[in-house]
Amino acid sequence: MTIPPVDLTIQHDEIAGEVAQGWAEVLAATAFVGGPQVAEFERAYAEFSGVAHCVGVANGTDALELALRAVGAGPGDECVLPANTFIATAEAVARCGATPVFVDCDPESFLLDTKAALAAITERTRAVLPVHLYGQLAPVEALRGVCDELGVAVLEDAAQSQGARRHGARSGSLGHLAGTSFYPGKNLGAYGDAGAVTTDDPWLAERVRLLSQHGSMQKYVHSALGFNSRLDTMQAVVLLAKLRRLDAWNAARVAAAGYYGELLAGMDGVAAPTTLAGNDHVWHLYVVRVAERDRVLEHLRAAGIGAAIHYPTPIHLTAPFATAEHGPGSFPNAELVAGQILSLPIYPGITRSQQERVVQVLAEALA
Ligand SMILES: Cc1ncc(COP(=O)(O)O)c(C=O)c1O
Repeated sequence: MTIPPVDLTIQHDEIAGEVAQGWAEVLAATAFVGGPQVAEFERAYAEFSGVAHCVGVANGTDALELALRAVGAGPGDECVLPANTFIATAEAVARCGATPVFVDCDPESFLLDTKAALAAITERTRAVLPVHLYGQLAPVEALRGVCDELGVAVLEDAAQSQGARRHGARSGSLGHLAGTSFYPGKNLGAYGDAGAVTTDDPWLAERVRLLSQHGSMQKYVHSALGFNSRLDTMQAVVLLAKLRRLDAWNAARVAAAGYYGELLAGMDGVAAPTTLAGNDHVWHLYVVRVAERDRVLEHLRAAGIGAAIHYPTPIHLTAPFATAEHGPGSFPNAELVAGQILSLPIYPGITRSQQERVVQVLAEALA
């Protein structure tokens, strides 16, 4: 039995008719950029996230960069982010000319160490970026008081957490603003690249929109140097169809994570993931920790199990971000977990027998 890391065909089968009809409407109208479906999705996603504004953009990396530019981040500024994230979080900081300042993570939840983040703030800090890694929300409330007082923006990296809640509040509503990705494999995934910025602040929303469309709110009137980074109309059709089902699909992920928890309970040599108090996790990834991870991964793959590593190298040790100031040993938790983490297959529609097989092969590898 071969088990993929993610199976998107199950979701597609459910929405295929709706997408075909929606795409036919776009084709008939030939409104490929900025069609009414984009505005409809932006309204729907803002409402879903519990914020006043959503601006659709081309991808999650652009969402973060545009959000950073909207808060004025640029050369001479510092932005604080966890060392254990996808490289895009750091790319967004560097691409707007600011300096990424990495901090360590909590080794149990894998989330940003908020004490370390607060300690890293200087008079040059423009933003702190808590990353909602693997589908649960970072404790953003621990950052807000100090950041609000100092005028430091809290920008959530919400790429992996659509629909997750913390103390009842949705992903994308906890910071001053948030950037999210609708890359196909995300909990809310498009059929290509797409992303969005969410915020309650009308000025920031307008600034992101302006920057995302050539620095212009009125055709051929350009008030700032901008980008071409818009949400595609075809993608908005897909995202609208999927958003209607997102809570149900996230519930299926929660059930699958619960079943993995049952299957792994009491098994030696594997640490199941933990959920912070107050969090409704949406299990974008199900990440366990094991010793001899590379050998275990090889065993799983040889048996046809689509296990993966998110992510093998902490960002401060990758070529674009390695500096003499933060060499190996700088962020011990991030470095430790990078050598132990293993993502097991999880997606809405994974069957109990598939999960049993995953855990059976994992047990063989650990025996
Ligand atoms: C944590 C995180 N941040 C940012 C991104 C960037 O999103 P995108 O691939 O849509 O540019 C991703 C996903 O790829 C991600 O997982």
